[in-house]
Amino acid sequence: MTLKLNDKYLGSFVSAEELSAIAPEVQAAHDLLTSRTGAGNDFLGWLDLPVNYDKDEAARIVEAAKKIQKSCDVFIVIGIGGSYLGARAAIEFCTSSSYNDLCKDTPKIYFVGNDISASHMAELLQICEGKDICVNVISKSGTTTEPAIAFRIFRDLLVQKYGKEGAKERIFATTDRAKGKLKELSDAEGYETFVVPDDVGGRFSVLTPVGLLPIAVAGIDIYAMMDGAAAAREAYAECDLANNDCYKYAAIRNILSRKGKSVEFFVSYEASLIMTAEWWKQLYGESEGKENKGILPASVSFTTDLHSMGQFLQEGSRIMFETVIDLQESSHGVEIPFEASNSDGLNFIAGKDMHYVNRQAFMGTVLAHTDGGTPTMVLELSKRGAAEFGYLVYFFEKAVAISGYMLGINPFNQPGVEEYKKNMFALLGKPGYEDRAAELAKKM
Ligand code: PA5
Repeated sequence: MTLKLNDKYLGSFVSAEELSAIAPEVQAAHDLLTSRTGAGNDFLGWLDLPVNYDKDEAARIVEAAKKIQKSCDVFIVIGIGGSYLGARAAIEFCTSSSYNDLCKDTPKIYFVGNDISASHMAELLQICEGKDICVNVISKSGTTTEPAIAFRIFRDLLVQKYGKEGAKERIFATTDRAKGKLKELSDAEGYETFVVPDDVGGRFSVLTPVGLLPIAVAGIDIYAMMDGAAAAREAYAECDLANNDCYKYAAIRNILSRKGKSVEFFVSYEASLIMTAEWWKQLYGESEGKENKGILPASVSFTTDLHSMGQFLQEGSRIMFETVIDLQESSHGVEIPFEASNSDGLNFIAGKDMHYVNRQAFMGTVLAHTDGGTPTMVLELSKRGAAEFGYLVYFFEKAVAISGYMLGINPFNQPGVEEYKKNMFALLGKPGYEDRAAELAKKM
């Protein structure tokens, strides 16, 4: 099995009796999900995606990726939230957090349109000077402001650089099948387009063209990724807490949350997992944080954050639990050298691999934090790779669906995200927002 939930360190925090007691709620959530009768049931396309995905489109993605790899030095991926985080997480997970410094046969990949920072944009435009560029603009709605601004800027740049016809060959749009401004524009300009399925929400869309095109451009095997997700789909099909780690994770989160553990830290020991943590935070935060409910998703990257958050995690308010990714194999080995003078006193670990030391840090921290009153779940993952990423994605997606239904909310909508947008439009003077602008003016 690719992924295993080790609950040994939950110790006194969660008992077998508590798990049995919550099992009927897990069953009810499973029934809602699999009968497709729960809230948000029109957004369940991700459930069968690993086996039902559009194979012709996947082949087109692979072809487009080859074309992009051949024709540019820099690949600009424009998107925000669910149209950004998954692809970046996958690329860093499967390759390296230093992908752009290490990539040799594939283009450098930059993500933009995930903020409205003028400095971020100006710096990226500087990076692009003198480089050949391709662009993938990703927006399911086709109307999101951040990516729309970035796309306008890069569209202009490409037209200036390559002419209208040349630009057309270098722009790839991932959006709704039929509607939205981006679809209209793409059809009018003749860009190659890829479809975000209607029934897959943004944060569940990494295994659609939203994630798969940038992932393929980075040279990662998208079929292996889908196979990994398909293996997880099979592994987590039955509602049996003893054998379904995905459901067990959802159940334990709910048990802990009801005991006042209202913050969950996603913990990793590899820089290449930092963006996976960001993806996970969106998935859990946007799915569960509503109706004044939800576990606050947070993340730390150890051991670096042991030197910033370690004190709080060991001795601060006892409001949190940890979910630690224990990556068992490292993609590289680096031996710690022996030094005759032992001037730094490190000879006790001379000859050991850094990965071995990292794993002792993991073990030592788990034991210290559980002793300090922080329950810890350990997700044992064999290694980093495309299949493992696909597996992990499906694990967390299905777990949040079960967990969200157990919480009594709709895990598939995000009504709260609209509020800041309405204020921003009012402040920017967008037609139709005049009343709101007047209301805001009174408060400022
Ligand atoms: O998960 C979500 O639905 C959101 O994070 C969206 O992905 C995000 O707001 C971007 O939306 P769009 O792809 O429509 O531009």
